[in-house]
Amino acid sequence: MGEERPIVIVSNRGPVSFHLDEAGTPMARRGAGGMVSALAPLVRNTPTLWVAAAMTGGDRVVAGSGPTAAEGFRVQLLAFDEDTWRAHYDTVCNEALWFAHHGLFDPVYEPSWPPGWVDGPWAAHRRVNEVFADAVVECAPQAAVVLVQDYHLCLMAPSIRRRRPDVRLVHFSHTPFATALWLRTLPALARRELMVGLAAHHACGFHTERWADDFRSSCRDVGVTAPARFVAPLGPDPDDLAATLASDACRAAAAEIDALVGDRQFLVRVDRIELSKNVLRGFDAYEAVLEADPLRHGRVVFGAYVYPSRPGVVAYDRYREAVMRRVTEINARFGTDTWTPIVFDPEDNYPRSMAALARADVVLVNPIRDGLNLVAKEAMVVNRRLGQLVLSPEAGAWDELGAAAWGADPFDVGATAEAIAAALDAPEGERSRRAEALRAASLARRPAQWLADQLAAAG
Ligand code: F6P
Repeated sequence: MGEERPIVIVSNRGPVSFHLDEAGTPMARRGAGGMVSALAPLVRNTPTLWVAAAMTGGDRVVAGSGPTAAEGFRVQLLAFDEDTWRAHYDTVCNEALWFAHHGLFDPVYEPSWPPGWVDGPWAAHRRVNEVFADAVVECAPQAAVVLVQDYHLCLMAPSIRRRRPDVRLVHFSHTPFATALWLRTLPALARRELMVGLAAHHACGFHTERWADDFRSSCRDVGVTAPARFVAPLGPDPDDLAATLASDACRAAAAEIDALVGDRQFLVRVDRIELSKNVLRGFDAYEAVLEADPLRHGRVVFGAYVYPSRPGVVAYDRYREAVMRRVTEINARFGTDTWTPIVFDPEDNYPRSMAALARADVVLVNPIRDGLNLVAKEAMVVNRRLGQLVLSPEAGAWDELGAAAWGADPFDVGATAEAIAAALDAPEGERSRRAEALRAASLARRPAQWLADQLAAAG
């Protein structure tokens, strides 16, 4: 049984990251990102070894000293030179793989791989995967289950399988998976290596059946036999959420939000400003709602808790600027001395975001494509006002929440506007029925089940 084997987790971001204090001493703090918040509490204070990349200056100092104990974790950090790291993380992971998996390329203009891309950035990405594979080969206890997380590290498995036949390898994708057509936007060698790499795991896991099907079609398209697949959607931890809601930071934020919103209706979104999240079309839809009905002016506030992501990657920087321009335009067009239509909050402040979701009348989750979208589930668990969910069917969470959500296709601004308006106007009985169903569906799966599914899939 998987549960009895030692566990090794492998991911790009680790459970802790280190910053250097004034004396140059590395100080640990909690690692960022959705995958880390889900997985870290489950393996804290256990013998699990977590192998991750050194992403900060402090991480690089720690990386030199082998496995390190910090904040209840055993962490092995791996450092890379700046050029290799940028090519791996920015150019391949954030600009190529992320775009392919989320269907973000506009095929008229992009992608357009320059000569040398495969021998340059892709080779650097392969090198990073090899260094991770070496670390696993060296550090994994006998007969360990190695749980590889996400799209950054798909090329390691063949080498580990050859050198450590005793370990079981599971890969879990937190993103959707590229359809066969989108996979073909990657250079032939890269897409084949990607699929061969994934197929060398004992099992590959996904948040929904849909992504697992896309993965199987992509395997077939490159002529690779698909490995065993499993579907294991993540769910929020209600105790963790309750503790956040009870925290001083969250209570203070809730009081501020109450003062800000007053008796107006509150539409909320919480997202990284990231291209697949579709933040711009969300604002377009809100503008259409205001345009269609002047009676809503002054009676609704859109709290946009959207914070920067992957700074320095050109497409993300450009998108962030466009988002901020759009907020300014809408506020200038409709705002008055006593009403700001969009309250824009660019700080990644988890307690404040949870306070906003708890106060929301309607939560907007309209991604172009999203592996799961845990925020949608968290929102329905913390909400205190029969909060409604406007949800894109392209979010993985749609499979569990779609039946009680207000559906809105991500490219259809008109339909999104109609869904927002309908959700704001729904009578109490309907709000209550939907809110109850959404809460129950959001609580149906706990993080521990999700981890257990990965371990079981190891065989
Ligand atoms: O959505 C999948 C995911 O791995 C998240 O868990 C995480 O927040 C993000 O992608 C990766 O982000 P980053 O590039 O900031 O590590």
